[in-house]
Amino acid sequence: MKVLVLGSGAREHALVRALALDPEVDAVLAAPGNPGIDLVARCLPEETRITDPAAMADLAERVGADLVVVGPEAPLVAGVADAVRERGIPCFGPSADAARIEGSKAFAKEVMAQAGVPTGLAHVCTTAAEVDEALSATGTPYVVKDDGLAAGKGVVVCDDLERAREHAAHCLDRPDGCVVVEEYLDGPEVSLFCLTDGTTVLPLAPAQDFKRVGDGDTGPNTGGMGAYSPLPWAPPDLTEQVLERIAQPTVDELRRRGTPFTGVLYCGLALTSRGPRVIEFNARFGDPETQSVLARLRTPLGQVLRAAAEGRLDEVPALAWHDDAAVTVVVAAPGYPADPQTGGVVEGLDEAAGVEGVHVLHAGTARDARGRLVAAGGRVLSVVGTGPDLATARQRAYEAVGRIRLPGGHHRSDIALAAAEGAVTVPSPVE
Ligand code: AMP
Ligand code: GLY
Repeated sequence: MKVLVLGSGAREHALVRALALDPEVDAVLAAPGNPGIDLVARCLPEETRITDPAAMADLAERVGADLVVVGPEAPLVAGVADAVRERGIPCFGPSADAARIEGSKAFAKEVMAQAGVPTGLAHVCTTAAEVDEALSATGTPYVVKDDGLAAGKGVVVCDDLERAREHAAHCLDRPDGCVVVEEYLDGPEVSLFCLTDGTTVLPLAPAQDFKRVGDGDTGPNTGGMGAYSPLPWAPPDLTEQVLERIAQPTVDELRRRGTPFTGVLYCGLALTSRGPRVIEFNARFGDPETQSVLARLRTPLGQVLRAAAEGRLDEVPALAWHDDAAVTVVVAAPGYPADPQTGGVVEGLDEAAGVEGVHVLHAGTARDARGRLVAAGGRVLSVVGTGPDLATARQRAYEAVGRIRLPGGHHRSDIALAAAEGAVTVPSPVE
């Protein structure tokens, strides 16, 4: 089978790498891809219009793709999966209507309410007066979310009333501005990716992401600075609980509404004293969690994604996993996330990949006129370490990160640290 992957991040590099390892996959193409993906697949760097549904459907037809896998959310929200499917080509990714589960937080809340899915109490506000009322109802810590897509940067969690009001005012300032003020959910966060064909739901292994830029969860939110899997501290029946109470009811509700969801329903959860609650849904694989999760997946990925895209996920046997743990550390450009500086020369990748159990995935990289690898985006690389346990996997990942040179580049030094030390706890249940 020939697979076309849309996107250019480390998540897409991880997808391409896993697809290329599938014996049933003969060829992987990536649009536009990046210099790392180019080492394992055929990149189409000129194909940058990945949010243009007609252009992507044409491309899928032209290259003879048997399966299209959409990485980022923007093409999904724009209707790329619809356009590809209309040409009769299987596509792993939801329709624009179903992708609203990510594109609109207010819509996600409505679906959850209908499906009885546990989440934080939320107030959808369109005026400053409504915001003030909602903030006084929820109390601190305040959680204020922009309703639209904001690449993980539209959320403010703070104790400062003025800052919460300012963020809300800023979001409301836009045409059709809408903010969600939400109850604060206490407890460690988990990302669980659930593959679905609209009916059958197949969960992957849970992972934990590190969203803040600085060690100890300090500084602004980012797209994600690192991730690990498995979660030795999580309740053993976590995946089952999330499947039963959250993922399956949500997929069923979307189908009932006439907007079946095909692709990956990303469940962003807080494990609270009252069980798992949804913080957010996304309509795509998470980045960087995918880099850790796919490093552990033993089942060939292409066959599973194709079965999902063709509505045959019920035929797929239980997924097989490596016993190894995986830790991903993101290397970011100077100034990320506020003002990433591109152009810095990246060196030491071969030395990094030489560390046992390590592979390096590219995100914001490019070749300059002299053929040198340079930073071309905020998150530049994902360094994935695997090993028999989290401590070994993280030690290997950090040894590799230490071999990479990017002037002014930065990374967090505490990815998976608390988990490796057994210091993550789930609040105990209240009756
Ligand atoms: P989101 O864009 O909804 O994923 O939010 C980004 C981050 O803000 C999450 O990963 C959480 O760390 C934090 N967050 C969002 N909603 C809540 C909430 N209700 N309670 C606590 N933290 C939250
Ligand atoms: N890792 C967070 C995200 O992909 O949204």
